[in-house]
Amino acid sequence: MTVREVQDEIVRLKKENDICILAHSYQSQDIIEVADFTGDSFALSKFAATVPNKNVLMCGVRFMAETVKILSPEKRVILSSPVAGCPMAEQMDKELIEGIKEKYPDYTVVAYINTTAELKTICDVCVTSSSAVKIVGELENKNILFIPDCNLGAYVAQKLPDKNIKLLQGGCPVHAAVTKRDAELARKQHPDAEMLVHPECIPAVVSMADYVGSTSGIMNYAKNSDKKEFIIGTENSISEHLQYECPDKRFYPLSQGLICKNMKSTTLIDVLNCVKGDGGEEIFLDDKTIAEALKCINKMIQLGSGAGGVPPLSIRN
Ligand code: 13P
Ligand code: SF4
Repeated sequence: MTVREVQDEIVRLKKENDICILAHSYQSQDIIEVADFTGDSFALSKFAATVPNKNVLMCGVRFMAETVKILSPEKRVILSSPVAGCPMAEQMDKELIEGIKEKYPDYTVVAYINTTAELKTICDVCVTSSSAVKIVGELENKNILFIPDCNLGAYVAQKLPDKNIKLLQGGCPVHAAVTKRDAELARKQHPDAEMLVHPECIPAVVSMADYVGSTSGIMNYAKNSDKKEFIIGTENSISEHLQYECPDKRFYPLSQGLICKNMKSTTLIDVLNCVKGDGGEEIFLDDKTIAEALKCINKMIQLGSGAGGVPPLSIRN
């Protein structure tokens, strides 16, 4: 079968079996093309609450599929690749954070959405990279415990100097591996390019960027800019998607190492198997976990929506 034939079969089967395919922007182009909705973590979470279909296939990583299940517990939610975890989401567990909360009882606990459903049950509010500054800025409490990503947390702290933000040593191993030297080299090699960076990168890299934002934020910025060249400081699939969508512009990965193996563990054939009903992993969460984790996800949707919050979704097929 050609790629096109596999895609046609996926589109036919997803309609026949009442499946909505959600794909994070880090998925490969062939998967993005068969998805009903694509976007960054915030856009996907927001949309997940309104999916009309009985079944949802999440092409992304585990915490994203869990978020869909929490928002739509009556739906059958499938994660496209059972091995697609997010290493950052697995860095901190409920017991660890419960212990820290005891030491800092007057802090509001802000959880990056890249956390497990279980950990979300003891947090006050979730954030994503596109909504973190807005949401933390709207919290009444000055004292914030921000988990798990210390790089995103440092970016929020720099934008909100009036807040007292406590950070822990967590983060994305893919983005955090980009060095200041990588950024200096990229600048030297492409002196006319603008540098667009995800806030999961270390502060020394973020401080060199012309624009800092989520995956959708970076894509929207590059598409709308009059500039012709861009250094892309996030997973390398974003450079590829942008090159595909904007053939008259040039996109250079900030580092060749910006590859998330977990996001890339889903293939088009996995998607085909999932819509046939014999692939992926169904997500099950108990009612108590769903009810408690839902509070902090709903608070994120409520505080994160509105001006400056949500990039537009791509709607396909
Ligand atoms: P976004 O919020 O930009 O989609 O990022 C999710 C993620 O996992 C980035 O590494
Ligand atoms: Fe997790 Fe980093 Fe991969 Fe995003 S890029 S899913 S934060 S490991």
